[in-house]
Amino acid sequence: MAALQDNLILRSGTVLRNRICKASMNEALATPDGKVQPEHVALYDVWANSGASLLITGNMMVDGAHMNEPLVVDALLDANMDLLRKWAATGKRTNTHIWPQLNHPGKQSPKMVNDAPVAPSVVPIPNDMFVPPRELSDAEIEGITDRFVEAAVRLEDAGFTGVQLHGAHGYLIGQFLSPHHNRRTDRWGGSFENRFRFVEEIYRRIRAKTGPEFNIGIKINSSDFQKGGFTEEDSINVAKALDALGIDLIEISGGSWENPVNRKGKQEEKMESTKKREAYFLEYAEKVKSQIGAPLVVTGGFRSSAGISDALASGAMDMAGVARPFAVEPKFGTQIIQNPNHTSPVAPIRSGLKKIDAMAIMEISWYTMQIERIAQGKKVQTKADGVWPALRVMYRFWKNGKAVKRVRA
Ligand SMILES: Cc1cc2nc3c(=O)[nH]c(=O)nc-3n(C[C@H](O)[C@H](O)[C@H](O)COP(=O)(O)O)c2cc1C
Repeated sequence: MAALQDNLILRSGTVLRNRICKASMNEALATPDGKVQPEHVALYDVWANSGASLLITGNMMVDGAHMNEPLVVDALLDANMDLLRKWAATGKRTNTHIWPQLNHPGKQSPKMVNDAPVAPSVVPIPNDMFVPPRELSDAEIEGITDRFVEAAVRLEDAGFTGVQLHGAHGYLIGQFLSPHHNRRTDRWGGSFENRFRFVEEIYRRIRAKTGPEFNIGIKINSSDFQKGGFTEEDSINVAKALDALGIDLIEISGGSWENPVNRKGKQEEKMESTKKREAYFLEYAEKVKSQIGAPLVVTGGFRSSAGISDALASGAMDMAGVARPFAVEPKFGTQIIQNPNHTSPVAPIRSGLKKIDAMAIMEISWYTMQIERIAQGKKVQTKADGVWPALRVMYRFWKNGKAVKRVRA
């Protein structure tokens, strides 16, 4: 069974030098039109020295007209190539692999930035942050698939050693996979095979256009915890099918906008196992692991050396994905490897006001503020309470959401 500092050798031949992956966190540092900024490079210069062997970037969009939030990177802008090269180079200096995460949000593109979201089918999100989506045509689906491919080709050219497809958290790939969100009767919907076709096409076409050493990973939900939706069985079938196609790494997460179990702790309430183990999705990981050959990353809840070491030793996963602790301790990976008693100081953010504390945005905003501070060379504010950072980040999102719309008009 693996230990923290063991190499992990991927099918591509890539050697990851330990079992810690910094999971994706949207940096929220781009311009409203999706341009990479020098702060991205500065941030990854820090995280390339974090002790993690693999850094997944915040989600980058394959279509600037469809963003999941303001201030995300548009992977297809020519103007980004120069800084993307510098971003990729930060990892080369420390033998740290950096894989941009590629995403199309589909209908999970809020009206703050998008008045015309698209989806496999017209199934609105029951939240007035979102405009009801329009159904994609066959030609548009082909077009989006090609955008994923073009983005991957550009990122390989920029020097990144792989990409991760965002198939989790309710975005477009997840919308196609889910029978709740995908009600199509053509070749993109209905049977598992048809719902899987969108991600399969993206995967196959990226493979055909990139080199043999270029890694393709995916982040998938263990389930979307929604009635009639994407079940654990679906998820295992997706993992098995991608494994058979030769995928390099599968990361397991869970939740969506409608049901954000991945970071709000609801999963902790649901799963008895979480009380005994740190990670929310380990039980599910065990089931997947026994059925696939591709290495498995489990993300969500890991906070301590002991928690990660135990999970690795159990054989349920090959690598730990860790997000929030890296926003508070930029050297979290090194701490975990060097000190068997280390635990992240990450604590739930509290304002004291129940209604405010229940908002996922509060917590996200607090971490977003810390990420911005790291990028600017400032110290993280571990003692800061949640209210002011959250309000400031929300204002920044609101202001830039308007700017995104102006750019697109
Ligand atoms: C500020 C912030 C931004 C995030 N952005 C992304 C993202 O762009 N893509 C993604 O797949 N997950 C994103 N996540 C989710 C994390 O990758 C991870 O799944 C989740 O935080 C649970 O892991 P943790 O307990 O280690 O934080 C984000 C989380 C936070 C806190």
